[in-house]
Amino acid sequence: MSQLDHNLVPNDLESYWMPFTASRDFKDNPRFIVSADGMYYHDSDDNKLLDVSAGLWCVNAGHHRPTINAAIADQLSKLDFAHSFNSGHPYAFNFASRLVAHFPDPLNHVFLTNSGSESVDTALKIALAYHQHKGKGSKQRLIGRERAYHGMGFGGISVGGLVKNRQSFGQLLPGTDHIRHTLDLERNAFSRGLPEHGVEFAEDLQRLVDLHGADNIAALIVEPVSGAGGVILPPQGYLQRLRDICKQNDILLIFDEVITGFGRLGAASAAEKFDVLPDIITTAKGISNATIPLGGVFVSDDVYNTFMEIESPGVELNHGYTYSGHPVACAAGMATLDIYETESLFHRANRLEATWLDELMSFAGEPNVIDARGIPLIGAIELAPREEAPMQRGAEVGKRCYEKGAWVRTIGDIVVLSPPLIVTESQILEIFEIIRSSIREVA
Ligand SMILES: Cc1ncc(COP(=O)(O)O)c(C=O)c1O
Repeated sequence: MSQLDHNLVPNDLESYWMPFTASRDFKDNPRFIVSADGMYYHDSDDNKLLDVSAGLWCVNAGHHRPTINAAIADQLSKLDFAHSFNSGHPYAFNFASRLVAHFPDPLNHVFLTNSGSESVDTALKIALAYHQHKGKGSKQRLIGRERAYHGMGFGGISVGGLVKNRQSFGQLLPGTDHIRHTLDLERNAFSRGLPEHGVEFAEDLQRLVDLHGADNIAALIVEPVSGAGGVILPPQGYLQRLRDICKQNDILLIFDEVITGFGRLGAASAAEKFDVLPDIITTAKGISNATIPLGGVFVSDDVYNTFMEIESPGVELNHGYTYSGHPVACAAGMATLDIYETESLFHRANRLEATWLDELMSFAGEPNVIDARGIPLIGAIELAPREEAPMQRGAEVGKRCYEKGAWVRTIGDIVVLSPPLIVTESQILEIFEIIRSSIREVA
């Protein structure tokens, strides 16, 4: 059946201010996605497009899953909304129990939010309040990393490390600092899996401890594998070394798993995959298969109990959102977990490992390709920037891919890949073939 429906193309393009968009360019040449199913999108010109990004790293179980849709409809008919401020409904409690079972012990408690940005700001606030309750109120500095993406709240952009997301917004949070990123093409280009070189990048944290004093540092936040910064993998041993330095200096370690959570790396969490235990994990995206905005901040027993044991009566954490624990979002999350469990999707990436890495590594020697890197099911193919026009080559490759039937995301000159976890081996081959031929066509 044709998906074409010209009534879906809007006449007014001015009322809507689009997020993260070159709006004038888009509106000069608009294109509209009108439906999605499984691994595919359909646009208003009747093109069928492979979804190479799982939405924005979030539709992990593929599009249009009827059981999630039904759970949402069913929940709306039972309880459309009840807030959770000094009030409870069973759906949030039941969902939280299901969620924490998938995350490593002792991360046994979850605070619900509506997005990754809210999860990050929530985690940073929890870290500050935690130290205050422990009688260490001077621990206020928050450390992030260069090239990190932690969403768009003021906390997130302050610990984030992408200049364009920071430079227009004033002084940001005071008292933040950044360790170096770990992308090292000179030593690690075309690494198969985790890069061999670079564990010493973790010593940058020690340098900041020596500079600011451990008594002044509350938390370090890192993406175990950074996504929006261009898919940067942790060198072997690096995350464990960060863990050790944090522990020695009573610094809370926060893993921002908004992308890596819920199966992206072949386990429910990167913490499990890499066997490194943070104190706090931020999540969103795949938690509800992106059907309803939802996020969760997982905290350890130590963090949670610190709040539950404070002497003053009343609210332990003065923080929350109107929609924290929204019943419909919880229903969507429950149905999403059902799919992840019954289809073993958290582990599916492992079964695709050989194909994924073989294909990525086969880009060595392709024109203008300076690196290919990844770990199933995330990847990047980095192109040399044109001297006179950086980012143009990436954009042209993305356009060619679209014309060939794959909607591929490019971040500057980096082609990034994170398909839904339901992707088949033959679809993986098709995706890489489309990218390869597009790269060959673009000078
Ligand atoms: C690591 C990370 N943290 C936070 C966010 C922000 O999530 P959201 O866009 O849901 O606010 C993102 C979004 O891509 C992300 O990749």
